[in-house]
Amino acid sequence: MLKISKLVKRYGNGDPVLKELDLEVPGESVVSIIGASGAGKSTLLRCINRLVEPTSGTIELNGVELTRLRGRELRMARRRIGMIFQSFNLVDRLTVMENVQSGRLGYLPLWRAAFRRYPREDIRRAYELMERVGIAHYANKRADELSGGERQRVGVVRALMQNPEILLADEPTASLDPKTSEQIMDLLRALSREYELPVLINIHNVTEAKQYTDRIVGMRYGRIMFDDVPDALDADAMEQIYAGVPAEERGEGADPQMMAAAG
Ligand SMILES: Nc1ncnc2c1ncn2[C@@H]1O[C@H](COP(=O)(O)OP(=O)(O)OP(=O)(O)O)[C@@H](O)[C@H]1O
Ligand SMILES: [Mg+2]
Repeated sequence: MLKISKLVKRYGNGDPVLKELDLEVPGESVVSIIGASGAGKSTLLRCINRLVEPTSGTIELNGVELTRLRGRELRMARRRIGMIFQSFNLVDRLTVMENVQSGRLGYLPLWRAAFRRYPREDIRRAYELMERVGIAHYANKRADELSGGERQRVGVVRALMQNPEILLADEPTASLDPKTSEQIMDLLRALSREYELPVLINIHNVTEAKQYTDRIVGMRYGRIMFDDVPDALDADAMEQIYAGVPAEERGEGADPQMMAAAG
């Protein structure tokens, strides 16, 4: 369970980008975060894994208050948070297996990682997960020889190798074609169920959010304007989230008129 209370983030002296945000995500649920560009979606995810330092408020993951942790404790907590990125963040010249094993980095003594002497159990686990997502036959290929969808599967396996307690995905499908996007969304949902993991996904594509996630959180100017099941996201709610945002800057499928027409 992820529990965020009164989270505030201010960059420098500017206005707060997150304004006393409250959010709870229980295990085994997939929550999408939608909202116009600049709403604060990425800032929220980065506060959770402390890539960005929250200004105030608390973030608890399974009872551990992440916002207080420093040094070694913070590193230990961070490895329990799996991140999945829009641009995959793989090391191109390394193999799929090597990329996947980098998910274990936080757990391994440095010499083992440096010489790529992975423990047998980690190799076994990697194959099991690669098998699960359909990339086991690419284990020894270089990452830059894979398609976008395959690369994102590598990113997913790398995150799972951390034995995460939560998965955070910042626009995981934004670089993929529509069919591949749907496959990745479907995979994330299935993995959430299989591993009883909360999954938090920033996403611009409202149609995909509705189809593949259990709950939608709509953000606007650092506040949560909507938090409910996808079916409750009607034209009014869309207007609350996107009012004043030009149609072309709204996420795909985010046009309220279209949504109203679609029922
Ligand atoms: N490192 C930073 N320093 C200063 N301001 C920042 C920084 N990162 C983000 N911001 C500002 O914070 C606000 C929220 O940005 P954020 O990236 O969280 O939005 P977002 O909802 O993820 O947008 P997008 O959909 O475009 O990815 C924006 O106004 C942005 O300019
Ligand atoms: Mg963003």
